[in-house]
Amino acid sequence: MRTQVAIIGAGPSGLLLSQLLNRAGIETVVLERQSRAYVLSRIRAGVLEQGTVDLLTRAGVGGRMAREGQPHSGCYLTHDQQMIRIDFAEACGAKVMVYGQTEVTRDLYEAQDALGSPHIHGVENVVLHDLDGPMPHVTYDHDGQNHRLECEFIAGCDGFHGVSRNSIPETLRREYEKVYPFGWLGVLSETPPLHEELIYANHPRGFALASMRNPMLSRYYIQVPLTDKVEDWSDEAFWAELKARIPADVAQGLVTGPSIEKSIAPLRSFVSEPMRYGALFLCGDAAHIVPPTGAKGLNLAVSDVHYLSKGLIAYYTENDSAGLEGYSTQALARIWQAMRFSWSVTTMMHRFPEHDAYDRQMQRVELTQLATNPVAQRLFAQNYTGLPY
Ligand code: APR
Ligand code: PHB
Repeated sequence: MRTQVAIIGAGPSGLLLSQLLNRAGIETVVLERQSRAYVLSRIRAGVLEQGTVDLLTRAGVGGRMAREGQPHSGCYLTHDQQMIRIDFAEACGAKVMVYGQTEVTRDLYEAQDALGSPHIHGVENVVLHDLDGPMPHVTYDHDGQNHRLECEFIAGCDGFHGVSRNSIPETLRREYEKVYPFGWLGVLSETPPLHEELIYANHPRGFALASMRNPMLSRYYIQVPLTDKVEDWSDEAFWAELKARIPADVAQGLVTGPSIEKSIAPLRSFVSEPMRYGALFLCGDAAHIVPPTGAKGLNLAVSDVHYLSKGLIAYYTENDSAGLEGYSTQALARIWQAMRFSWSVTTMMHRFPEHDAYDRQMQRVELTQLATNPVAQRLFAQNYTGLPY
């Protein structure tokens, strides 16, 4: 088989890239290890930057998001009993859209089906070949046979545990990593959200987040030690702990119910540079991971796809390779800014085992600054709603 761009991974990065390229007349083949049902069952974050909304709309998948998504013009940070509202609209004139990643993925699959774009699910043993040579290609197993896909470019959109990043010679890669000493226990429940806007809580018992998907679907998280197991947390224990970490007057309105999903995710920051090696370009979680505190994971994947799709389209339609040459540098500049924001909000909002009274004073001062200083509010709002592409 032969195509122009082979895409490894059918998560949001791979699907959106395929969609943008197909609409520009560029052929792709998407290879995915899991089934579509499995990809669609993953519960992930749900806050989209304006740039993400715009790109999804340009890709022809903005319809349901415009109808069912909820625009948010602010969020709350709490410190013990104090509620600090960051008004994005006033601070920087922007908004975010609350619309789950699962829904974004579903919309992309539907749009790709409508274009008849080839996706192969259930592939195994994907290997990338001749990345710096004249005949880049991918081999993989499917339905008991080994296949060879020849291509001009390969997009590594296969997430943190994929094969693409490690196909770049180790001597050419530089990795940066920070592992945080706690995880987030997340619960999805068919109950009305605690509040109209997201609440990020810094409390002596640990961080908590009250988020949502729609008027009858809530998403909550609490910081837990890495040694905790999901089985350690009954629904009752989760609700009691969440309630204890949110200001009392708001927490009294919490509607609880059975959890329909419960999982623990570790928090990590990770970047692998460069994001290009010969014919291979990395996008999204394949190249970088952020802790979820800044809601940047999906948005960064989308900004990578923005730069890469632009570069590939200019290459195929105008024979201009400048965008491809500059891809890694351009994408990484934005990624590092989102890394800093995600790290700083994580540090400001969590209880770290090693923190002492001095560190807690630093958190207090940062939160006071956000409560009182329009410059601090503007910087937070610009980063949260998304830096320009
Ligand atoms: N071969 C084929 N597919 C693979 C392989 C492989 N060897 N390894 C992984 N995959 C697939 C995974 O099954 C997954 O569906 O690649 C896809 C990667 O998708 P994501 O992990 O969702 O990564 P990405 O598309 O970059 O999206 C980034 O999603 O993971 C969240 O928090 C992340 O919000 C961020 C966004
Ligand atoms: C979520 O709704 O899952 C969510 C929202 C905001 C975050 C992280 C997760 O910062």
